[in-house]
Amino acid sequence: MSKIYYPNAEFSKDASIPSMEAYWKLQNRALEDYEGYWKSFADEKIDWLAPYDEVLDESDAPFYKWFTNGKLNVSNQCIDRHLATKANQDAIVFEGDRGDVEHITYAQLSTRVNKMANLLKNEFNVKKGDRVVLYMPMIPEATYAMLACTRIGAIHSIVFGGFSADALRDRIDDAKAKVVITADGAFRKGKPYMLKNVVDDALKEGGESVEAVLVVKRNNEPIEWNDSIDYSYNDMIDAQSDECPFEIMDSEDPMFLLYTSGSTGKPKGVQHSTAGYILWAQMTMEWVFDLRDNDVFWCTADIGWITGHTYIVYGPLSAGTTTVMFEGVPTYPDAGRAWKMIEDHKITQFYTAPTAIRLLHKMGEDEPNKYDLTTLRVLGTVGEPIDPPAWKWYYEVVGNSKCAIVDTYWQTETGGHMISPLPGATPIKPACATFALPGIVAEVIEEDGTPTPVGEKGFMCITKPWPSMIRNIWGDPERFKTSYFSECKKDGKPVYFTGDGAMIDEDGYITITGRTDDVINVSGHRIGTAEIEAVIKHVDTIAVSAVVGKPHEIKGEGIFAYIVLKEEGSYSPDEIKSEINKLLKKEIGAIALCDEIAIVPDVPKTRSGKIMRRILRSIAKGEEITQDTSTLEDPTIVQTIEKIVKEA
Ligand code: WTA
Repeated sequence: MSKIYYPNAEFSKDASIPSMEAYWKLQNRALEDYEGYWKSFADEKIDWLAPYDEVLDESDAPFYKWFTNGKLNVSNQCIDRHLATKANQDAIVFEGDRGDVEHITYAQLSTRVNKMANLLKNEFNVKKGDRVVLYMPMIPEATYAMLACTRIGAIHSIVFGGFSADALRDRIDDAKAKVVITADGAFRKGKPYMLKNVVDDALKEGGESVEAVLVVKRNNEPIEWNDSIDYSYNDMIDAQSDECPFEIMDSEDPMFLLYTSGSTGKPKGVQHSTAGYILWAQMTMEWVFDLRDNDVFWCTADIGWITGHTYIVYGPLSAGTTTVMFEGVPTYPDAGRAWKMIEDHKITQFYTAPTAIRLLHKMGEDEPNKYDLTTLRVLGTVGEPIDPPAWKWYYEVVGNSKCAIVDTYWQTETGGHMISPLPGATPIKPACATFALPGIVAEVIEEDGTPTPVGEKGFMCITKPWPSMIRNIWGDPERFKTSYFSECKKDGKPVYFTGDGAMIDEDGYITITGRTDDVINVSGHRIGTAEIEAVIKHVDTIAVSAVVGKPHEIKGEGIFAYIVLKEEGSYSPDEIKSEINKLLKKEIGAIALCDEIAIVPDVPKTRSGKIMRRILRSIAKGEEITQDTSTLEDPTIVQTIEKIVKEA
């Protein structure tokens, strides 16, 4: 049995949830009176502009509605309501790649967001419900743009800056975006990189809905300019008034879309609501990171992924804390960058992905010891299972055995954390997400809803609707139902299935065992194997491909592709790999490149033609094949492939 790490008593004394008794008190209250529980927090945390009628409307399940007919505005939640007490407190501490630092107070944030909101409203006629795509680097203007959208009721959809022109175009077209906000580019590892040219390429074909591209200057590199559609943020912003009354939004008005990968087809536009999302963003921020006055919180994710979205912008700002935004990478100019930033900005909570932890560990085992990290209280991890050695280093060296590690399990679809230790309460088992947060009913079950026995793998389900849950897949309600509410039932009623497997132990601790579907998790980024295969299909020489994840020392999972050529023997694996990766880079982006390929005569298929990916996953991992291969069309193919992979 692994060692249990108890919360530090000194820390627990002042923690917002100071003990397991306090945790159970909250959780039992939720279980006894679910709606009453959520009502009490909604009333406490949200500045309602008009009261809601019902806490939870289940009449059109699984299209659940929360706080029906209530009115609020997210930019009011994140800015205006803090101004009386926090005008001069830093809202954002921005650090650029090259070390340039800017402090932005809540008063300044207010001015800048109001101006940007006026710019969108007055110059581009952006109205409530219009979609605005952000293709932005990690600079403060990205946050202003997000909040400006929420101020005027526009639905923003952030597309991660690492996605290619084709991927960007798909997302712009799917959302029918009216405006795209971008930047000339930004800096990474001391050098400028470009973004605006990607938008130009995206709009060359498609993008018919786009009326304007608003361009923020960051790196001042030369860019192409099209007078009929491009507008300069820097030239236009000063003329805007710094007062823009916020739009009165309904609780259930869509707040944003964020595209994510599923096991089939194109990425899905995960649609979130207004009240539920902002409520849980704030509550989890306060509980999981045990937020206190004068905290300086740093989440290293990108705003183009839900982690950055919720825990760089909406969580910290709705909770009125100071959030750090970083343009660069934590390994530049050296492996001490992250630790230096923690020292410089007196950071109190540091939230990053296992990939980054493994990389920083590998690059500088003792590096953290060279810096003053004593301000740190809570360390967080997210996005993929963390392995015990990385956990141990994070705990002992980065946290000096004093900080709790919150291993937060959640998804784009859940809006905020679902399962996580609470730093002042939960005795931690390393690399274990532990317990559902108060109010969240997370269960490891079988398809029919019976609890999976202790120590066995089951389906990770959230069996009661919760406020920050996905509301729909943009434009595709059927896919919403089949993606999330078709696998598992409880008491005969479809329940939300996360797509992950999990295990519960004898103490009730939940460990996430990873995706059960064809989604791979590369450096904490979700990529569907179907998406990759759809691209590979376009390589002329390839007949069939089957893509699986393979454990990778740093990235968690790497991409492994089995390739069947149209004409055997005519090309080398290196040639094919570079062909494939060229296309993947163009169609999806550099995050989706194949690490390894194997050219095989065929892939294992059932007699009905279904590719047996489980076998391919096992072969990629070098595991013994234990699956039954008798149902295969050609069982001998398994040994053939094994041999090829072993010899590669
Ligand atoms: C995985 C990221 C283990 C999981 C917030 C999930 C995790 C997917 C953890 C969602 C964790 C996230 N431990 N696995 N603490 N957190 N995952 O939508 O497979 O980018 O379904 O959201 O990441 O990825 P997404």
